[in-house]
Amino acid sequence: MRKTSYLFPLLGLALISFDSCTGSNTSTSTTETNANTVAETSAKEMALTEAQLEKARTSYASYCSGCHGEQMEAFTDRKWKHGNSAENLFAAIKHGYPDEGMPAFEQTFTDDEITGLVAYIQEGIQNVKQYDFSEETAATEVYTSEALSYRLDTVATGLEIPWGMAFLPNGDMLITDRNGAFYRLPKGNRQLQKIAGAPEVLAQGQGGLLDVELHPDFAKNNTIFLSYSAVKQEGDQTLSTTAVMRAKLEGNKLTGQKVIFEAQPWARTRHHYGSRLEFGRDGMLYVTVGDRGQHHENAQTIERAPGKVHRIKDDGTIPADNPYVNEKNAIASIWTIGNRNIQGMVIHPQTGAIWTNEHGPRGGDEVNIAEKGKNYGWPVISYGINYNGTVLTELTKKEGMEQPLWYWVPSIGPSGMAFVTGNRYKGWEGDLLVGSLRFQFLSKLKMDGNKIVSEEKLLKNIGRLRDVKMGPDGYIYVAVESPGTIYRVVPVE
Ligand code: HEC
Repeated sequence: MRKTSYLFPLLGLALISFDSCTGSNTSTSTTETNANTVAETSAKEMALTEAQLEKARTSYASYCSGCHGEQMEAFTDRKWKHGNSAENLFAAIKHGYPDEGMPAFEQTFTDDEITGLVAYIQEGIQNVKQYDFSEETAATEVYTSEALSYRLDTVATGLEIPWGMAFLPNGDMLITDRNGAFYRLPKGNRQLQKIAGAPEVLAQGQGGLLDVELHPDFAKNNTIFLSYSAVKQEGDQTLSTTAVMRAKLEGNKLTGQKVIFEAQPWARTRHHYGSRLEFGRDGMLYVTVGDRGQHHENAQTIERAPGKVHRIKDDGTIPADNPYVNEKNAIASIWTIGNRNIQGMVIHPQTGAIWTNEHGPRGGDEVNIAEKGKNYGWPVISYGINYNGTVLTELTKKEGMEQPLWYWVPSIGPSGMAFVTGNRYKGWEGDLLVGSLRFQFLSKLKMDGNKIVSEEKLLKNIGRLRDVKMGPDGYIYVAVESPGTIYRVVPVE
């Protein structure tokens, strides 16, 4: 059996699990690290009983950890957006911030239970330390999987949230950072170079500079595509949407920038942008757009772009054979409908089919093949439930709606995906790799034709794994968030 928890001691991590604080006095923390006097006072004021703490712990684990981290990672080392007083936290949990993707929990918890959660968070964040996935340990540590052993080479550091990667024919890598920065990593060099001319983005919530894709004829035309959350002001409202820019890469500068796709309508929300980009074998650019958190309005409606896969030509015009081109009022770029938030897409190396993964609500993340005109069911059918615990739909199957090839309950928060190609990885050939944001591992799905037969979890605890790509050198590259780092997975004898 594979042991993965060994990562913690080896890397000198001091992640203190909540189990370890229950034995001590529950109201005060003796940990000096990350001491936060404000939080400490509030936690003391609200001394929790063992029973309240236990209740808060289970509530946090089942309702909150999927988005905020098992260890409250999302709450540490951060500027609180809405204030960090007990009242601020209480209001956030009770009423939510729906436009930012924070659900309201007033139907789920009593005020007392919310108070318990507030104290639990304020106490808990003092005990969380950030990962210190230092270069040396990463580069020398050997990991074992069922089929082979491997180590990690650190390829790039100094990023925040690396979202997309693309390899140039000369071996240089292009990397997008969600904060809006766009980089070139020259081959064999760890020094990131900034590329000028990336689009203006709304780097809030899940938005920012997102994916990057080369034109299939890049070697001849130097053309690239960037997806991002575009921003515009309408009256006193700041609206955003998923957009795609086409540009020429000249040295470390973009020129001839042109916006070739904007998902209509724009929205006030700051989440579910989707936005993976892939060129198909048919020379068309596939673009995923998430439901923007408005699934009832968007996902099943061909008059609206969110909650879909789109297919456009390299200049943004519409291919004549798209499934809805002849339907009145339809958005003609639509390729599939009923998708929640697709943040992973890859072309199958043998069949050329378009493989995607999408985030379920609470549970029900899926892997699908995106086929022309098909309906993937969201939000009519789903293997997940609402974040606040209420039933979203009773249905998991329906006539005319596709079943996923694979689904995860609980949600792993799937991100980029890649098929293992070449012959460097004995025993992994043809497997499908999917990053997990929530549980911070790389999922390796064993394939049998188009069937997924089993899952193995690699790189456990590496951090929120945002993207995975096969490099032209035949190695697997993974991008991990906060601190943003790119690793190469190198098999060892
Ligand atoms: C679907 C994902 C999701 C779930 C589930 C969720 N949250 Fe949030 N939460 C967010 C987002 C997004 C924000 C917006 C601020 C941010 O980006 O951190 C947020 C904000 C907050 C804030 C305010 C943070 C600030 O900076 O002011 C608190 C407190 C909070 N959540 C607590 C909770 C608790 C407690 C639970 C469980 C009962 C929970 N959340 C469940 C996504 C989620």
